[in-house]
Amino acid sequence: MEGSQLAADDWWRSAVIYQVYVRSFADGDGDGTGDLTGVRSRLPYLAELGVDALWFTPWYLSPMADGGYDVADYRAIDPAFGNLAEAEKLIAEAREAGIRTIIDIVPNHVSDQHVWFKAALAAGPGSPERELFHFRPGRGAHGELPPNDWESEFGGVPWTRVEDGEWYLHLFATEQPDLNWAHPAVRQEHEDVLRFWFERGVAGVRIDSAALVAKDPALPDLEGHQGPHPYVDRDELHDIYRRWRAIADEFGGIFVGEVWLPDAERFARYLRPDELHTAFNFTFLSCPWDSALLRRAIDDTLAEHAPVGAPATWVLCNHDITRTVTRYGREDTGFAFTAKAFGVPSDLELGTRRARAAALLSLALPGSVYLYQGEELGLPEADVPLDRIQDPMYFRSQERAPGRDGCRTPLPWATGEPFAGFGSTVEPWLPLPADWPSRAADLQERDPGSMLALYREALRQRRSLTALHTEPLRWLSEEPGLLLFARGDHLVCAVNFAEHPAQLPAHTEVLLTSCPLDADGRLPRDTAVWLAL
Ligand code: GLC
Repeated sequence: MEGSQLAADDWWRSAVIYQVYVRSFADGDGDGTGDLTGVRSRLPYLAELGVDALWFTPWYLSPMADGGYDVADYRAIDPAFGNLAEAEKLIAEAREAGIRTIIDIVPNHVSDQHVWFKAALAAGPGSPERELFHFRPGRGAHGELPPNDWESEFGGVPWTRVEDGEWYLHLFATEQPDLNWAHPAVRQEHEDVLRFWFERGVAGVRIDSAALVAKDPALPDLEGHQGPHPYVDRDELHDIYRRWRAIADEFGGIFVGEVWLPDAERFARYLRPDELHTAFNFTFLSCPWDSALLRRAIDDTLAEHAPVGAPATWVLCNHDITRTVTRYGREDTGFAFTAKAFGVPSDLELGTRRARAAALLSLALPGSVYLYQGEELGLPEADVPLDRIQDPMYFRSQERAPGRDGCRTPLPWATGEPFAGFGSTVEPWLPLPADWPSRAADLQERDPGSMLALYREALRQRRSLTALHTEPLRWLSEEPGLLLFARGDHLVCAVNFAEHPAQLPAHTEVLLTSCPLDADGRLPRDTAVWLAL
């Protein structure tokens, strides 16, 4: 039963994709920032972990005003990370190790250091250069008020006034001017960038803020607005992504969209057969650790994907989200950006136990799974000292919310080395928490009870358990506090959320448990098991 029964070009339908936040993965040249040399040196670790693909958060030339999501040049690698030749080598070496590469494209905006934006500033009001962005005169007697009442995704006003008096739109930070997607040059440039990277061997593209890209050209106020939202989920987006799909099809490439939409039917429209292959499942990611809510999230996910024939994705964490063991150890185990706060207590032991169960749960569901770096080490959210925080979300919240740096701290590789083996010879860009050495990968490699050992074993088994790649999910129980489902006739996954231990169905073998079964072979609370029938 080696490998899945899926055709090779359907790999993405049930792949495990590891997210590399390059800056914090491994520092190959010692300068305090993770880089491509660091990733290349850790390819054996990633192959051993057993992932099918790597998704790299933006590695392009960037002033790093938003951790690289402010791109100054799509065809250049940031010198802190390496260069284009090295990226090509990395893509090829990963492929040799059986690992595909997914890059991150940020169509909504560029950096204010991008040549287009610099030219637009220099060219002045009314110029063709300004038409690539959303420049507008201000309101008020002297144009001193922003052109509309929108709010930045990072908080505050999404408009900045330039010296000649015009304002430009940025849904995120000031340094991230939004592009005008009604302009043919903007479309053409992104289509060229896609080709540029597909020609270099990438297998897929993650699309940042995919549902925010198109704007109502009138940029109307939100208050009292009737009809389609002026910048969320606009119908024009589907034409853009259909053209992208045609390009991806030339190369056999795939897309995964960052699409946060509460409306399941609208979400699924992005996954029609001639649009994006997949999109992140934020319903599952945001869901509290609660059997009824998780079951509903799973059912809703499968139901919304079925009509368009797209596979679901299962995500527990990423570079924007509170680390799983911390989130699941809190009283409120759901996730919402608006709820991010300082000093929320967390029982990390409980959180770890649940994160282990959640790993087996998500890896047993039909579809692909995204694994954010450090989750396989069970890293908690770090408390980054205030004077070291870099995330614009912190500053734009008037320093009220901690922002996202707590899930972006450098990885600990080796327990006895400086900076826990991250590779730096100088202080890294974000500090490593004091207890990081005790969580280092080299220690966990030697500990069969570690989170790393669990992930490795689960991924190893998942590869050869054909049913996990081909069979639909079938619920076997309605019992409150228990998630119990089969994939095909011979494989069952159970997760117990209830206080009392759960009786397992008849089985021939216990394949894997997130924590040991009790003395009577029952499933304890916050524990998951894979069974062979
Ligand atoms: C996405 C990214 C996030 C970034 C934002 C703006 O949400 O995941 O990290 O800040 O887009 O590009």
